Amino acid sequence: MRVTIFGASGLLGKALMREWQGDTVAGLCSRDADICDPDRVQQAVRNTRPDWIVLAAAYTDVDGCEKNSKLAFAVNRDGAVNVAEAAKQVGAKLLFVSTDYVFDGKKTTPYDIDDPRNPQSVYGKTKAQAEIRLLELMPDCCIARTSWLFGTGGKCFPDTVLKLAASRPTLEVVNDQRGCPTYAVDLASAIVQLTRKDATGIVHATNAGDCTWFEFAREIVGSAGLSTPVGPVSTQRMARPAPRPAYSVLSPVSLNALGIKMPRWHDALHRYLDERQQAS
Ligand SMILES: NC(=O)c1ccc[n+]([C@@H]2O[C@H](COP(=O)([O-])OP(=O)(O)OC[C@H]3O[C@@H](n4cnc5c(N)ncnc54)[C@H](OP(=O)(O)O)[C@@H]3O)[C@@H](O)[C@H]2O)c1
Repeated sequence: MRVTIFGASGLLGKALMREWQGDTVAGLCSRDADICDPDRVQQAVRNTRPDWIVLAAAYTDVDGCEKNSKLAFAVNRDGAVNVAEAAKQVGAKLLFVSTDYVFDGKKTTPYDIDDPRNPQSVYGKTKAQAEIRLLELMPDCCIARTSWLFGTGGKCFPDTVLKLAASRPTLEVVNDQRGCPTYAVDLASAIVQLTRKDATGIVHATNAGDCTWFEFAREIVGSAGLSTPVGPVSTQRMARPAPRPAYSVLSPVSLNALGIKMPRWHDALHRYLDERQQAS
């Protein structure tokens, strides 16, 4: 099988490039093909002749999207459409990586794949509109929604927490947003399996279990053997430009129905900490 990954230089993309074995994989970053440029995208797809395209490229700065909404829609929605059109031209299948931010966070039980989208942030709106456009263009595409991504391939929450815990006497972390931390390595493995199973439609792919950011931070600090006290605070105290869903736990039912199970986030965190230590 031939695979082309857009966003290969990102947190998830790097894990995909490392984890994907046994197929011919081409990884592209924005220098290779800006997804906002349909000609460049078509050329890249023609050159790499993929059976599957994994679209992990996005403008992922959630607060930046609020200020630069034109760019956010150009990359996350229109760029995704450009990739889907190029995929269609060569008969390639498409897996689009989406987000828990397509939901409003008002539920108190895990989000199912057919729960209505109601994004609250510009970033969430760009990804929700991309999902809708892609399903119109390519009804058989696969949309893998994930959340709270972490890994050694880029900036992420555990890395920030560890750096702050090493330099500050105490940490304060929000305790009223609940979601599912997801290790890029485990998501990459799930994505490989999804393509091998020719998955179509929407799938929720996160590590198992859920927590608040405070609970996640406390586990990160403790597991790393640090003694920095971590205290809970409210979202209101830590105001950010983009609203975050208060509850964005994604139900694993759709993934499990395909025979794919992802490990618990505690287990994933320990493997991340080992990987981070080895990398340094
Ligand atoms: N991070 C999270 O917590 C999270 C949560 C849920 C869903 N997701 C989704 O998961 C996917 C991967 O996220 P990530 O955290 O790995 O992203 P990331 O680390 O921010 O990497 C973004 C990637 O997109 C590429 N890119 C950006 N603009 C581009 C453009 N105009 N043309 C071509 N490539 C472009 C970047 O290439 P350059 O390096 O060349 O700029 C980079 O490879 C995204 O679809 C994101 O929406 C992420």
